Amino acid sequence: MKVGILTGGGDCPGLNAVIRAVARRVSEAGGECVGFLEGWRGLVRGMTKPLTLDEVEPWLGRGGTVLGSSRTNPYRDPDADLPRLRRNFADAGLDALIVVGGDDTLGVAARLVNDFDLPIVGVPKTIDNDLALVDFSFGFDTAVNVVVESVERLRTTAESHRRVMIVETMGRSTGWLACFAGIAVGADYVLVPEVPIDVPHLVSALKRRREAGRNHAIVLVAEGARRPDPDPGAPQPEDLDPPRPGGVGATVARAIERRLDVETRTVVLGHLQRGGAPTAHDRVLATRMGLAAAELVLQRRLGTVLTLRGGRIGDVPLDSQALAVRPLDLAFYQDAAAFFY
Ligand code: F6P
Repeated sequence: MKVGILTGGGDCPGLNAVIRAVARRVSEAGGECVGFLEGWRGLVRGMTKPLTLDEVEPWLGRGGTVLGSSRTNPYRDPDADLPRLRRNFADAGLDALIVVGGDDTLGVAARLVNDFDLPIVGVPKTIDNDLALVDFSFGFDTAVNVVVESVERLRTTAESHRRVMIVETMGRSTGWLACFAGIAVGADYVLVPEVPIDVPHLVSALKRRREAGRNHAIVLVAEGARRPDPDPGAPQPEDLDPPRPGGVGATVARAIERRLDVETRTVVLGHLQRGGAPTAHDRVLATRMGLAAAELVLQRRLGTVLTLRGGRIGDVPLDSQALAVRPLDLAFYQDAAAFFY
């Protein structure tokens, strides 16, 4: 049996642990594993890397993805890319392909299953933790810990200068990362895309905190939080190609300084949240997901995607309905808000 694997979309810690587990389980069954480089680009262009046990063994705790990733989508230029993809799939002699990615990457996989019945198994991945398929995605815990470590550092300088530190996190359309990190660091306010920014409420909370004698504050802002009053002249996210959020932290900082006599500083954590080695939690979850994906292939349960519910791994048909994005559960937001002044 020959099994291909690719990693697409934003990278995250844990991807290499998935690959390592897949290669291990396939090898145990007497099969062969081959990696396709740079997401779907590797299959369109026929870029591969053999995945032997010796090769993958050291990858458990290695961040990023050794196969590389991209946001290539063969359906953007279907006349050129789909025939090349299908030919490379056939030429590689694949019995199955394991696709590790978020809603974009898995969305391509679902279309290929629907359009050409390709033997694909999907593994959900997103540090934004916004896929309804899984309670938690590997990579998310590591990203939350990066935010926590960063904020613990920022808190000492905020205290020293009696400042309000605005920390912008990733999270294009959901606030899972900002909210969980907010609870973990005891943030004085958290702004998420699911709750429109209420500047007066934010400012009064910061004011009450100062009146209580707390001379600094930490405000976490998800990059997808909706701007309070976009500056007409500023390049809006949709003006950028590809549309890219960002800058909302600075906007919030300006809104605070216009209303409160306080110094603010803004830190955009950006890709730090996607970098570095996976935590133990993510190594375990990623390994379990890789083993489960390989098991689905060995059982010929194809055209499926893994799920994680209550700690148990399952699977559902890999179709567009399965790939719904899951907004932040506002119960978590209420838990974070319990500590706003
Ligand atoms: O989708 C995950 C994510 O990390 C988002 O949170 C972030 O906005 C985006 O990817 C960044 O994408 P890129 O790495 O292409 O800049």
